[in-house]
Order: sequence, then structure tokens, then C-alpha cells
Amino acid sequence: MKVLGIESSCDETAAAVVENGYKLLSNSISSSVDLHAVYGGVVPEIASRSHLGVITPTIKEALNDANCQWSDIDAIAVTYGPGLSGSLLIGIMTARTLAIAKHKPLIPVNHVHSHVYAAMITESPLKNYSFPQSQPQFPILSLIVSGGHTQLVLMTDHKNYKVLGKTADDAVGEAFDKVAKILGLPYPGGPSISKAAQSGNPEAFTLPQSKMSSPYDFSFSGLKTAVLRAVQELCGKPYDFPSSRLAELLNESQKADIAASFQKTAVQTLASKLFKAFEEFKPRSVVVAGGVAANGYLRKTLTSIITAPLFIPDIKLCTDNAAMVASLGFYLPLDAGRPDSAYHLQPVPSLAM
Ligand code: KG4
Ligand code: ZN
Repeated sequence: MKVLGIESSCDETAAAVVENGYKLLSNSISSSVDLHAVYGGVVPEIASRSHLGVITPTIKEALNDANCQWSDIDAIAVTYGPGLSGSLLIGIMTARTLAIAKHKPLIPVNHVHSHVYAAMITESPLKNYSFPQSQPQFPILSLIVSGGHTQLVLMTDHKNYKVLGKTADDAVGEAFDKVAKILGLPYPGGPSISKAAQSGNPEAFTLPQSKMSSPYDFSFSGLKTAVLRAVQELCGKPYDFPSSRLAELLNESQKADIAASFQKTAVQTLASKLFKAFEEFKPRSVVVAGGVAANGYLRKTLTSIITAPLFIPDIKLCTDNAAMVASLGFYLPLDAGRPDSAYHLQPVPSLAM
């Protein structure tokens, strides 16, 4: 069964064809990240307009790269939430139109759930991807870390799962983005922080890890504020000094030390909660997915502490893509949405997992 996946929840317009949930036949992504970089974050209106301009060519490219005609496609899977409502709407309306016009079933997919399915892809004729030799086995403990979400989920099968904990405020990727902004590093902040941290001393600043009443919940806004206070003190400025003017007072070595100290603290928080859940629930596999799973320091740290098979997808499948959507689409029953969802599916911007 070949599923065409369509993803447009944030600033990436993506389409991909995946066969039987594990074989990646194509993976097309068009990102509007450069348009948002000047604003230091995603501007929803710009994202929607950009999706509108590129979604049709992106889908065509995905079909071409997969050597597929419409007659080869068995179903269309589309992200219907969570995400930006205008962005989701473009993907959903495109998918609905194609499902009706081409007589294909439409499978609504939860974006956060789908991040885990990047780890289900094990094979491809495409070059420059690395894949695990086998798929993760249930029960799977998943850590989903992105710009919008930070969740620990215990999955007993493709449809049944329990959210063990989530963030009470900022997602971890959002914290990377905000700290990068304080340091004057380019958006998106994750890769910038990770690069700056390479030459920094992670012990230079002692930053706090949040304490939550539930052991598996997260909070990153305090860490971000602690970075802001540390920078204000380092620059000898009061707490009401505008954060946008701090970066110009820092030299490269100070920026590197702050980036490394922040990254270490954020990764330690993720690693300690994942490890606690790993010890308590004894899963057969652990999956770490989402944009922040691209972080090299996180990957290295988790590899050293998790003793069960650990799956962290290829970096190109960690950040938003449609391959994960097509893969999850295969594992959901064809009636996962209402049978008439091609006529009625709507965005659910705050869809929970
Ligand atoms: O999964 P994703 O592409 O989009 C959402 O669903 O949010 O994740 C984007 C997030 C951004 O916050 C970005 O800064 C972060 O992933 N990110 C990273 C790295 N690469 C991307 N965070 C830390 N280290 C990285 N190397
Ligand atoms: Zn995502």
C-alpha cells in the first residue's frame, strides 16, 4: 500500500510517498524558514501564503520522485493538527480536493503522533539517508521534542498510548529558539545554539532545572529566564534592560559558553526524565523524535544512558516532513477519520495527542 503524506502544520510544506509504512519512496520539503528568519520566529500569515504557493509543486515532485502515477497511490494522509490554523488549512484543503478528485481515502493524522513514525522508516532507494535495521517494537517509550511540543508517551500499539508528561509552558525547541534570540544567533535557534555550543564551556554557567509536581512533566520557561538573567548580570545591566540589546554586548566566547551551558541543562532535563520513565516502564524500544532530536549533544547523551534499542531518526526525518505522516497513515485504519472526512475534515490547531 502506497500512502501519499501531506504536511503543512508550521513553516514546512511537505509531501512524501511511503510504501507499507516503512519504505520511503520520496520526501519533498519546501521550507519558508528563510522568510521567517528576519522576524526571529514563524509569522503565521507568511507561512500560510508560502504553503499556498508551493504545495502543488511539492506534491507533484513527491509523486515524480517516487515514480508514481495517481493510480499507484492507495490513500492520502494529511496532518490536521496541532499547528497553525492557516497553515493546516492549506494542507487539508489540498488533501481533501485530491482525495475527492482522485477517489482516494483520506486519513487524518496527528502531527505529534506522526513524529514518532519517522522511526518506522527502515528502507529507501533514496540516497543520503541513514535508517535503522529494524522497526521499534512495542511497547515504545517516545520522547517527542520539537518547536511546539515536549512530550513523553508510552505507546502499546499504533493506536493506543498514554501521555506520561508534557510541558507546562515552552516547548524545548521554543526555548532553544528564544535563547538564540537573546544571544543574537540566527533563527531557527536549535542548530545555531548547537553550533555555538561546540566551542563553549558547558560548566561556565549554572542554570536551574525545573522541578515539577509530576515527574514526567517539563517546564522550560524558567530556564530561558535564567539565561536572560545570567546574560543581564554578565553585561552589568539591570533586569529591565531590553533583551534585544544584550547580544551586541557579548563577545563570541561568552555566547558560546552560554549556549553550551543552556544546551547541557536542557538536554539533562530531557535525559533524566526519559531515563526515569525508561526504568519505570521498561519499554522494548525507545524513540526520540521531533526537530530537537537533531541535536547532536542530545543524541550522544541518550545513546550513553538508554540500554534498550534506541531509535533517533535521520536528521532529515526529525524536523517536519511528510514521510512520517505517510507512515503513520499506513498504520491507522482507513476509517481512522470519519468515512466522509474528505468532505468535512477541518484543522484542529490545538489537537492533543
Ligand atoms: O519538529 P520541528 O521541525 O517543528 C515542530 O513541529 O515544531 O521542530 C523545530 C524545532 C525548532 O525549535 C528548532 O530550533 C529545533 O526544532 N531544532 C533543534 C535542532 N534542529 C532543530 N534544536 C536543537 N538542536 C538542533 N540541532
Ligand atoms: Zn513537528
